[in-house]
Amino acid sequence: RFKGIIFDLDGVICHTDKYHYMAWKNLADSIGIYFDEQINNRLRGVSRMESLEIILESSDKAYSDKEKEEFANKKNEMYKELLNKMSENDLDKKVKETLDILKERGYKTAIASSSKNARLILSKLNLIDFFDIIVDGNDIKYSKPDKEVFEKAGIGLGLLCDECLVVEDAASGVEGAKRAGMEVAGIGDAKNLSDVTFHLESFDDLQKYCR
Ligand code: G6P
Ligand code: MG
Repeated sequence: RFKGIIFDLDGVICHTDKYHYMAWKNLADSIGIYFDEQINNRLRGVSRMESLEIILESSDKAYSDKEKEEFANKKNEMYKELLNKMSENDLDKKVKETLDILKERGYKTAIASSSKNARLILSKLNLIDFFDIIVDGNDIKYSKPDKEVFEKAGIGLGLLCDECLVVEDAASGVEGAKRAGMEVAGIGDAKNLSDVTFHLESFDDLQKYCR
């Protein structure tokens, strides 16, 4: 029924969501702001500056735009240090195997990520040439829960919205996909959301739903 599969990156293809957490935690600690995994889940799919705003909700201090810029840069530097240590070995075998099988079965594939580091991550994982199209944080004006990134990915694949299945780990991403008129397979944090059509226990469950 689907002709294309549009994948989120952080938390779906790879575990860079953990690195986002570590880098934000480091920044929050350095400026004395409370931050935990629960707050971190609200940052999934959300752009860097919007993520910072959510983190700063835990502070009574008002920060200037310049300070916010510095915080975001500091976080990104730390995050990139973690990314630079990544290699092909950080790509889960089951993920790679599943991607290959889906491609063999004739599905077109795309990445739809809010991250400006998506291409760096995909290069590290040796996946930069795998996908038919990559739409990332540099290509969009509005991040998830907006539908922009998904619509652009669908257009890039040359498919109608109802021919695309989105794979997401974020509530914001599930909402964005729905707004684009696409069905969703939810994994991790998004597995049990009511808007999700397929509930993935693990990535290779996709092989069952995309025959
Ligand atoms: C993804 C992640 C978010 C992150 C965003 C921006 O959507 O799920 O947690 O904030 O990308 O990432 P960036 O690498 O541009 O800071
Ligand atoms: Mg994600």
